[in-house]
This record gives sequence, structure tokens and C-alpha cells, in this order.
Amino acid sequence: MAVIEVVQGDITLQDTEAVVTAANESLMGGGGVDGAVHRAAGPRLADAGAAIGPCEPGDAMATPAFDLDPPIRHVIHAVGPVWEGGEYGEAEVLASCYRRCLEVTDGLGARSLALPAIATGVYGFPAAQAARIAVATLRSTPTEVERIRLVAFDQQAYDLLTAELAAASDRTHVQSDSGQG
Ligand code: APR
Repeated sequence: MAVIEVVQGDITLQDTEAVVTAANESLMGGGGVDGAVHRAAGPRLADAGAAIGPCEPGDAMATPAFDLDPPIRHVIHAVGPVWEGGEYGEAEVLASCYRRCLEVTDGLGARSLALPAIATGVYGFPAAQAARIAVATLRSTPTEVERIRLVAFDQQAYDLLTAELAAASDRTHVQSDSGQG
């Protein structure tokens, strides 16, 4: 069972083997967390992304981490859904991003992963609903990853993710206490 934690900070500074960036379909970089990851990893990241892209929304693809500091060895480029009001399958596409990030990390044999709040910036996904999807998907997806770190960039995201993780854990304890687990 993976340990899931929430921290507030910069995804490029995490001590995990893999870090996720919230990419666009080209995988050639952009703003937000993608801009930070590409700046820290250097220009080879965009070249590597271009070589394997495009990447469909809901999917994730891995490249080396290039100039990012160890222990980070892999960048996993996940493409989130653009929020269009919630009636176009955005929730399922976001859940798919988190599932695919774990699957890709397993494929790399990496055991620790840091992820940002995918799609909640430029793509406009409501932060509270995104936090619920992130925690529920990461908790329910079978994986060999031992340490999953949700990295909030601001206090609001940190508070939402922390609350969602606590609520999900409480629900699990209640079920197990009442013998329904
Ligand atoms: N570390 C961790 N999280 C960060 C960082 C950082 N250095 N910088 C920004 N974030 C957070 C934002 O605060 C937001 O909560 O990452 C989350 C995702 O926001 P975006 O980076 O805007 O990503 P997204 O909403 O998925 O939009 C993706 O934006 O940058 C472009 O190329 C990218 O087209 C793509 C789109």
C-alpha cells in the first residue's frame, strides 16, 4: 500500500525518483508547472518530449529528467483536461491522468513519485473537485509505488488536498471499524 502525503512547495525540488508535469499535448513545454519543470530540466526535455509526443489528454508519457537534481530521474508528462463546465468527461480524463502516472511510474520501476495539481491552473479545473479526484484515484489504483507525494504550490491547494486525504482515510477507518472493510 503506497504512502500518500501532501506537501506545499515546488515540484522541481522534490526528493522523489519521478516527478509529474502538467503538460500540453505537444510535450514541448509551456507555462505554470510545465514551465518550471522545463526550466529546471533544461532544453533537452523539450526535445525528448517532441520526440515522443503528442500525448492525448488523460494519458502520460515518460522522459529522462536531464538537468533536474537527483534523486529525480524521470519526468512524467501528463496531459489534463481543459475544464469546459464538467459535462464533457473532464473528471474521467483527470482520473485517467493520475492512473496513467502510476502505471508509467511502475513501468519505470520507480518507487517514489511527486505530482502537481494537474489541470487546476491554466486548464481551469475546479481545485476542490480535482483534489477529490486526485486522492480517490491515487488511493484506489494498484501500484508498486511506495511513496506518492502530492505537491501543492499554494496554501489553498495544500488545504484542499490535505482535507481530502484526511477525509478519505477517515472513511476507510470507519469502514474497517464497522467490519465492512
Ligand atoms: N510546483 C508545483 N506546482 C506548481 C508549480 C510548481 N513549480 N507551478 C505551478 N504549479 C501548480 C499550479 O498552481 C496549479 O495548481 O500546478 C497546478 C497546475 O497548473 P498549470 O501548471 O497551469 O497546469 P494545467 O492547469 O494542467 O494547464 C496545463 O498549462 O503550462 C501550460 O503547457 C501547459 O498547456 C499546458 C497547460
